[in-house]
Amino acid sequence: MRFIQDCEIIAHDQTAPGHWRMCLRSPEIASAAKPGQFCMVEVAESLYPFLRRPMCFSEVDADSFCILYKLEGEGTALLAQRVVGQTCSIQGPLGNGFPIDPGFERHIIVSGGIGVATFPALAKALAAACKRPPEVVLAARTRHLLLCEDTFKALGCAVHLATDDGSVGEKAYAAQMLERLNPGPDTRVYACGPMIMMETTAAVAGQAGANCLVSLEAQMACGDGACLGCVVEATEEREGEKMVRVCVDGPIFDADAIDWEAHNTAYDL
Ligand SMILES: Cc1cc2nc3c(=O)[nH]c(=O)nc-3n(C[C@H](O)[C@H](O)[C@H](O)COP(=O)(O)OP(=O)(O)OC[C@H]3O[C@@H](n4cnc5c(N)ncnc54)[C@H](O)[C@@H]3O)c2cc1C
Ligand code: FES
Repeated sequence: MRFIQDCEIIAHDQTAPGHWRMCLRSPEIASAAKPGQFCMVEVAESLYPFLRRPMCFSEVDADSFCILYKLEGEGTALLAQRVVGQTCSIQGPLGNGFPIDPGFERHIIVSGGIGVATFPALAKALAAACKRPPEVVLAARTRHLLLCEDTFKALGCAVHLATDDGSVGEKAYAAQMLERLNPGPDTRVYACGPMIMMETTAAVAGQAGANCLVSLEAQMACGDGACLGCVVEATEEREGEKMVRVCVDGPIFDADAIDWEAHNTAYDL
């Protein structure tokens, strides 16, 4: 079930430089949303900008949900101006969401930068469904961009911090931290962050025989499978194309389903 609703903004705070958390009231969307799914957010009350912006469900409660977002450009700058008490039009929930499988012995979340936004909801679901809470690798460029540490700790997660500049935690990249945790065939890894971070994380997981799911980002227009604006190269052909649509086939994919090499060539990485 999906909705388009004007939702009341019930909280909106800056959580770190350039990063905001907005909570919205909607019992219907909150009760339908699954971890890993996303919504399309109308950023301004005016007709411009026309396109909604995709945002993950970061936290979900009985009658409300929160998004956690980074200021990127015009749309998110307009969104940051919205205030508590106003309404914001939300379309969702959209996409497939993370499968929750208690059959895995270990669950390791690997987050890079604002990629963390999708993980508080997942960590909560895993902590409730599995024998023990997930382990979390929280990686970012520098210490003030490490978000949600307290949220994960409150759920009982062991949190491993990594920064590119070594300002807190280990001076390491996310994939290196995962390697140090020795994942194995009994492990499921969940990764979200920049493409290169997900590719290297998937490689480490693959070498260890672990299952790896990635939450992909792509520029989106319709969010509904129609415009093909969000396609990503895949390893297997579907309906005559080696492409998947992030909005309806994802955003969660098995890492083996993504052609990382083709993506790097397309973007000259
Ligand atoms: C399924 C999904 C879930 C997302 N969830 C979140 C979230 O929870 N929190 C969050 O902060 N962001 C999230 N994003 C990314 C977010 O949608 C974009 O940052 C946002 O649309 C940028 O809008 P803007 O108008 O501010 O920037 P624009 O002016 O549209 O773009 C500014 C810059 O950001 C780049 N950009 C725009 N959209 C994307 C994108 N989707 N991926 C990579 N680069 C982009 C543009 O190329 C440009 O360089 C998600 C994206 C997807 C596809
Ligand atoms: S955003 Fe239009 S097909 Fe995915």
